[in-house]
Amino acid sequence: MQIAIDGPAGAGKSSIAKIVAQKLGLEYIDSGAIYRALAKKMLDSNIKIEDYASIKNAMENISIELINGDVFINGVNFTPFIRSSEVTAVVSPFSAQTEVRRKVNFFLNSYSENKSVIMDGRDIGSVVFPNADYKFYLDASVEERARRRLAEIQYSASLDEIKESISKRDYNDEHREVGALKRVEDAIYIDTTEMSMEEVVDKILFNIKK
Ligand code: DC
Repeated sequence: MQIAIDGPAGAGKSSIAKIVAQKLGLEYIDSGAIYRALAKKMLDSNIKIEDYASIKNAMENISIELINGDVFINGVNFTPFIRSSEVTAVVSPFSAQTEVRRKVNFFLNSYSENKSVIMDGRDIGSVVFPNADYKFYLDASVEERARRRLAEIQYSASLDEIKESISKRDYNDEHREVGALKRVEDAIYIDTTEMSMEEVVDKILFNIKK
């Protein structure tokens, strides 16, 4: 079984996907974590995000592994370092590059082969799993998504800062030429703005059981 969950930053995709995965005995795959790990690897290697040629070259020579949910790049676990504001600031323009998306999509497809998975991201229902058994699009207002993010980072920034960063990322994710965030027709749309996590999980499970 393949379940695709797409939606903008901070819509609660990963928390919800993890719970659904546990309830249905599926493996949860966080595709954003892979983009983040690769972006962090570029930063560590002093490769600029706009240096397309070096990034293309790096993508051809990099290995990605997923072990117990952690992302390993060239054998090193990057998961502890991928949620920093430094990575968040560059990951969206980085992930807009064709070579990067090709690399990640190839990995995601080969890793998921013959597995029952739930994967979240931006282009899962449209590009990675166009034939997924179930597709969901989770949304929420920018205000609410910023509030959730703020709580997650324990109020270490202002609401306006977070709102600006989320809006910028939404814009980039929605307007790139490849793998743009979009609501595919066969995805079930859930506006989570005024819903609790349990309500969203129940709605997803209800649709699957139906
Ligand atoms: O899900 P996230 O916020 O951790 O994702 C980080 C970035 O990675 C997001 O801004 C865009 C990119 N991304 C993507 O382009 N395609 C995906 N399937 C998942 C993430």
